[in-house]
Amino acid sequence: MSQRENHKTGGPLGPTAAKPWRGTIDAYRELLAVSPDTSIVTLYEGNTPLIPVPRLARKLGVSAPLYVKYEGLNPTGSFKDRGMTLAVTKAVEAGARAIMCASTGNTSASAAAFAARAGIEAIVLLPAGKVALGKLSQALQHGARVVAIDGNFDDCLNLVKALTDKHPITLVNSLNPHRIEGQTTAAYEVCDALGDAPSHLFIPVGNAGNITAYHRGFERYKDAGRSTQIPKMMGFQAAGSAPIVLGHIVENPETLATAIRIGNPASWKLAEAARDKSGGIIDSVTDEEILAAWHLLAKSEGIFCEPASAASVAGVLKLAARDELKDAESIVCVLTGHGLKDPDRAVAEAGEVPRSVADLSAVESVLGLGDKAGANR
Ligand code: F0G
Repeated sequence: MSQRENHKTGGPLGPTAAKPWRGTIDAYRELLAVSPDTSIVTLYEGNTPLIPVPRLARKLGVSAPLYVKYEGLNPTGSFKDRGMTLAVTKAVEAGARAIMCASTGNTSASAAAFAARAGIEAIVLLPAGKVALGKLSQALQHGARVVAIDGNFDDCLNLVKALTDKHPITLVNSLNPHRIEGQTTAAYEVCDALGDAPSHLFIPVGNAGNITAYHRGFERYKDAGRSTQIPKMMGFQAAGSAPIVLGHIVENPETLATAIRIGNPASWKLAEAARDKSGGIIDSVTDEEILAAWHLLAKSEGIFCEPASAASVAGVLKLAARDELKDAESIVCVLTGHGLKDPDRAVAEAGEVPRSVADLSAVESVLGLGDKAGANR
C-alpha cells in the first residue's frame, strides 16, 4: 500500500510531493463523470481540514469524537467551490460563454471566481440588502455582473430559471446536476480523513443541495468499497426559514443566517430522501441557538465560520442537551463558510467597539490592569 493510501479504505490521504493537490476533480476523477480530455477549471479547491474539537465536545456534553469539516478554507471561502469547479468545467466544455445564478452570496462569489478563472462571464442575482458584505465584495471584485432583486432568494432563483431558459446562459445553481456531483467530494474527503464514514453528519440546510450531495457521496464511497457505513444525515434549517421542517413553503423566510434564508428549497425532495434513507432528521434551530454555537466555536476552538455554518453545531447542541446522541460513534459538523464572509455580524455581536486611547495608563485603565507600575519588572 502506497504512502498516500489510507489504512482502512485505500483512499487518498491528501497531497504529497509525488502527487500534489490539484483540486477536487483531479483527486476524485474516477468518481466524477469527467473524461481524460476535459480541460478542468480549478482553483485547487477542496482538501479542507477535518479538525477535532474536543473542548467544544466537552462543552456540548458529547462523548463521541467530534470534528468539524472546515469548508471556509476553500479558495472563495465556502463549500460552493466543489460544485462550481465541475459546473464551470462542464459549461466551458459545452461551449458556454456566460453563467448565471441566484444566490444568498456564496454561490455568487464562487461563480464569479470560477468564471474569471475560465475567462467567461458571470451574472448573479442577489436579494437586495440581504447578502453579507464579504460575499458581495467577491462577486464585484471578480467582475461579475451583479443585479440586486427586490425579493428573496426564491424570487431570484425563479428569475434565473426563466432567464436561462430564454437566453444562451448556463444556470449554475444546484439545479445544474454538476453542482451536486462536484459537492460529493466533501464526503469522500471526510471518509479519507477518518478511515471510514462517521456515524452522524450534521449540516446546515438552505437550498438543500449540500445535504443531498453528502449523502450521495457517502453512498458512492460505500458502493466503491472505500467506506463501510452511511452516516445519519442530520440537517438543520434556521427556525424562521424552515420549510422542510414545517412541511410547507415559507413565503417570507427570515433569519440572521442569511446564507440559509430560503423558503422553497430546490432540492427539497432529494433532501428528504437523504434524511429518510440514512435514518437521519431535518430539524430547525433558532437564531439564538445558531449564535450560541457560533460563539462557542470561535471562542473555545479558534474556528471562525459564518453564522449559517454554525447551524450544524447548534444542531449538536440541541440534540446533546436532550441526550439524543448517546448512540453516536463519531460526529462530523460541516462548517460551510468562513467567518470573514460576514464581518459586520461579528462586529455587531461584539457590542461596543472599544474607545480609542493613546497612552500607557489609558490602555491600562481600559484593560482594567490598575496601577501596578514596576510589579512585573
Ligand atoms: N451554508 C452556507 C454558508 C451557504 O452559503 C449555504 C447555501 C448553505 C449553508 C446551505 O447549503 O443550499 O446546499 O442547503 N448558500 C446558497 C448560496 C443558497 O446562494 O450561496 P444548501
